[in-house]
Amino acid sequence: MPASVSFEHVNKTFGDVHAVRDLTMEIDEGEFLVLVGPSGCGKTTALRMVAGLEDLTSGSIRIADEVVNGREPRDRDIAMVFQSYALYPHMSVFDNLAFGLRQRKTPDDEIQRRVADTAAMLGLEDLLARKPRQLSGGQRQRVALGRAIVRRPNVFLMDEPLSNLDAHLRLRTRGEIVTLQRQLQTTVIYVTHDQVEAMTMGTRIAVLNQGVLQQVDTPQHLYDHPANVFVATFIGSPAMNLFSGEVTAAGEGLAFSATGMRFPLAPGLVPVGHTGAVILGFRPEHLRLTATDDPLGVPGEVTLLEPLGSDLFVSVRVAGHEGAVVARLAPETVVRVGERIALAPDLSKAHLFAADTGARL
Ligand SMILES: Nc1ncnc2c1ncn2[C@@H]1O[C@H](COP(=O)(O)OP(=O)(O)OP(=O)(O)O)[C@@H](O)[C@H]1O
Ligand SMILES: [Mg+2]
Repeated sequence: MPASVSFEHVNKTFGDVHAVRDLTMEIDEGEFLVLVGPSGCGKTTALRMVAGLEDLTSGSIRIADEVVNGREPRDRDIAMVFQSYALYPHMSVFDNLAFGLRQRKTPDDEIQRRVADTAAMLGLEDLLARKPRQLSGGQRQRVALGRAIVRRPNVFLMDEPLSNLDAHLRLRTRGEIVTLQRQLQTTVIYVTHDQVEAMTMGTRIAVLNQGVLQQVDTPQHLYDHPANVFVATFIGSPAMNLFSGEVTAAGEGLAFSATGMRFPLAPGLVPVGHTGAVILGFRPEHLRLTATDDPLGVPGEVTLLEPLGSDLFVSVRVAGHEGAVVARLAPETVVRVGERIALAPDLSKAHLFAADTGARL
């Protein structure tokens, strides 16, 4: 039975390092939750606390509504797949898959059946007699997954399980894991620092930064409504373009102004009474090429062209603005490095954040 998992005000410190801060989050039964964030933000620590491999400093964790603090890992009915999975090199694939079941004194005919089912699910039927060294990287990865699946745990914990694979295999295995999870209807908590993996795999995504949960949401909602500047720039590639400036009154309405820029702001974008310093954000796909004398254009000099076949990423240096502004344009767009162009944002797609806290306004 898939189980729910919940964190309630969970803290974890290692000496001076506050690895996880006041984490409160609920993961429903059968959900595929992706935990994403930069290196060192506390992802592995959070997962290890669910597994029972790390004690909590404070707070509690529930699995299927039962507080599991202090419960041994083997009594939690979870299975964990690590980044550096280790198969037993001297054992066959069959024995690697059966190992955990034998340890639990599962009857022999049950072991045969479960290993056969799992091998069929993962396409390992013809490899059961082989030793790990006789397998490709992707096949080994599937055996490592199989070892977790064969136990039919209530919750799967996966910590960057694809990072050892090359790009092509990672893409394929990513799809396989998602399909498998939908088939098994099991609860998965999946850790990655790769935002593309997060977007494509998760039914919801939890973004962590420096041990603090920033936002938990569906991939699309996270992309369309990032809660703050950190989430806005972490999710999406190339990252959202951010402009620091001011909200000022402009006739009846409001406008955004910064060096070389002035845009009217749609009513409703800015909370009533808010003026002063803000950060305005546009995703690369919401900038288009415009005439250099367009009053709504952001003028600048092209510094880099990145043709992807499907899109053309154009980096532009804008006066008074740190870093490049990146636009995602149609691949047939003709621009040259060094050329002066102007980019007009789709104002209906503007994101507005407070300059001091970075929170979405
Ligand atoms: N056993 C430990 N002793 C001391 N500090 C630790 C220990 N384990 C983790 N930390 C620290 O806690 C913080 C969070 O580490 P964690 O491994 O959870 O990060 P992560 O998000 O998994 O990073 P990565 O993407 O690099 O795997 C880091 O600052 C790390 O150095
Ligand atoms: Mg980690």
